[in-house]
Amino acid sequence: MKTLVLIAHPNMGASKVNRAWRDAIAESDVTLRELYAVYPNGCIDVAKEQELLLSHDRIVFQHPFYWYSVPPLLKQYFDEVLTYGFAYGEGGDKLSGKEWIEAITCGGPEPSYQVGGYNRYTTSELLRPIEATANLCQMLFRAPFVAYGVLRLSAEDLARTAEAYRKYISDPNLDISTPGKLFAKFSQS
Ligand SMILES: Cc1cc2nc3c(=O)[nH]c(=O)nc-3n(C[C@H](O)[C@H](O)[C@H](O)COP(=O)(O)O)c2cc1C
Repeated sequence: MKTLVLIAHPNMGASKVNRAWRDAIAESDVTLRELYAVYPNGCIDVAKEQELLLSHDRIVFQHPFYWYSVPPLLKQYFDEVLTYGFAYGEGGDKLSGKEWIEAITCGGPEPSYQVGGYNRYTTSELLRPIEATANLCQMLFRAPFVAYGVLRLSAEDLARTAEAYRKYISDPNLDISTPGKLFAKFSQS
């Protein structure tokens, strides 16, 4: 199982959680790619990115939750890299069977992502467009790994999320029978 981790954080220098997660997997057997560092001018090398997708089995998109979605460069990546004839449409089955994992950090606390909470919807519901994207690409949308309330994480909890993240993305046996049904999460306890 070859894993590609695509990190999309517009300001890694100021990041606490995404940086800790990156550091936790730096020594793992994964290909680590920080999109904002690779493409500071926003010009994505589509052929290179498609080649990387082809040569890996599990794709992890690690990013902060931005307006219930992804940071702009990652949206641009979806728009430009997941092309017709490659990822979907006629002949577009090149990503078929590969795994898609969302690894997300949320400023909002877990109870806010519930019916009645101030964010109104669960992260699972809010991630539907991304799940649908994976589905159209014939990819297996695995249970997202989500950390909530990250602005107030203690050093211990930060270390715990990072270790849990490392374990999660290196687990070879994520449930393949129920893609999109599971919802792994980490919250302060
Ligand atoms: C433009 C912007 C939009 C954000 N949108 C959300 C959001 O929709 N939901 C949420 O829980 N947090 C949101 N946040 C908070 C970030 O998710 C949070 O700062 C980030 O996950 C912290 O991770 P880091 O320590 O790696 O920077 C937003 C932050 C910014 C700057």
